[in-house]
Amino acid sequence: MNSKDFREQGYRVIDWVADYLENIEKYPVKSQVLPGDTFSQIQEDPPIRPEPFDSLMSDLDEIILPGITHWQHPNFHAYFNGNSSFPSVLAEIITAGIGAQCMVWETSPAAAELEERMMQWFIKTMNLPSEWHGVIQDTASTATLAALLSAREQKTNFDVNNSGFQHNKLRVHCSTETHSSIEKGVKIAGFGRDNLVKVETNDQLAMDSSKLESRIQEDLENNLIPCCVIGTIGTTGTLAIDPIEEIGNIAQKYKLWFHIDAAYAGSGLILPEYYHLTQGFDKADSYVFNPHKWLFTNFDCSAYFVKSKETLLQTFEILPEYLKTKTRGKVNDYRDWGVPLGRRFRALKLWFVFRSFGLDGIQEKLRNHIALAHWLEEQINDHANFELLVPRVMNMVVFRYAKETFSEEELNIKNANLVQQLNDSGAIYLSHTKVRGKYALRLVTGQTTIEMRHVRKAWDLILETSQDI
Ligand SMILES: Cc1ncc(COP(=O)(O)O)c(C=O)c1O
Repeated sequence: MNSKDFREQGYRVIDWVADYLENIEKYPVKSQVLPGDTFSQIQEDPPIRPEPFDSLMSDLDEIILPGITHWQHPNFHAYFNGNSSFPSVLAEIITAGIGAQCMVWETSPAAAELEERMMQWFIKTMNLPSEWHGVIQDTASTATLAALLSAREQKTNFDVNNSGFQHNKLRVHCSTETHSSIEKGVKIAGFGRDNLVKVETNDQLAMDSSKLESRIQEDLENNLIPCCVIGTIGTTGTLAIDPIEEIGNIAQKYKLWFHIDAAYAGSGLILPEYYHLTQGFDKADSYVFNPHKWLFTNFDCSAYFVKSKETLLQTFEILPEYLKTKTRGKVNDYRDWGVPLGRRFRALKLWFVFRSFGLDGIQEKLRNHIALAHWLEEQINDHANFELLVPRVMNMVVFRYAKETFSEEELNIKNANLVQQLNDSGAIYLSHTKVRGKYALRLVTGQTTIEMRHVRKAWDLILETSQDI
């Protein structure tokens, strides 16, 4: 493909994306293909000769699209949304076109400096502590791994980095509702899964901080070394918010690294009405949230912040001859701020999103998403056969069909059937969780183009389907 062909096909591809997004409501939200359907349609060997772009585009429509779950569909209410936007997609095309590998400042100074500024914009607009330093990671899982590694090194005076893991008594505390990425990080970072302590939660499924302190004391009595505690703002199951200030006080008292995982709900902090949630952030050592979930920035883009840049750098720094530059120490070489050496130019899409929407535009959309969830919450509260299982937080509603005549066991089966039937319909897609043993539907209203009509449609369908289960 030469640049003339690229220009021609490029316009066509942009048209394809625009058509796809304009017509997205025609597709079943959740892909309906069966395991192996796509695989069997892809030729066993790569082509020897170049193929015309036309045949690629027709295979895209015929083979790939049926196997896509449409995350940008306004009736995608499952998991947490990974919403995108036109400005973000355009920036992504430019990023790919530039094709820069932004491992050190010199390999693209603008990428490094735009990244620094974007992280400062988050600090300013989200009421985060002004002394924090930010860096973009691919995902929250990677950011949390960076936090665990930094915690390990700080506690062992960088001994594990130098001599290997001989401290098999280092303990990490989180709540029973914490995301699985914490357990994964604990395994990878060498703490050992047995040293992850899952602290009990209260009625709201938020960490019980008095239990946290007892578990830490038990560790100390047993000659174990508490090292890190992880609090969550917006748990995956129910968006529960851990008591950040109380956890922060305990972390300071016992000299623990305090990491906050706000992967989803962190985007909500761009609304001043949620600034109160940042109380206690001054006691945290690290913090992560994902603009790629609820900030109109296509996957992947995770914002990670630390109090001590020095500890982060000392944990990850490595300096082979070929990476030595004259600007070292005077600029941010982001390869030292996390696991990978190579880095994509992700800051560009944040810049495009911020400038195209404006802060007002972003805030208006988020407030609308929250209002839609509030409307749904009211419908559930007003309906005799449905109940909320936890109070709504931001734009997620956790509820179940709960007709009184059925036992708890029957309700669990009926609600599981309800989720299955709704998702099989292709009209909407939602996911489930369990709240103290009760099978619950979990509906998020966070898509870029979602409107009231989509939430009404979801609710009507839930009511209708609940008659059949
Ligand atoms: C609370 C929480 N933390 C972490 C993650 C992991 O995010 P990522 O896919 O960016 O690693 C998720 C994913 O949904 C999450 O809900």
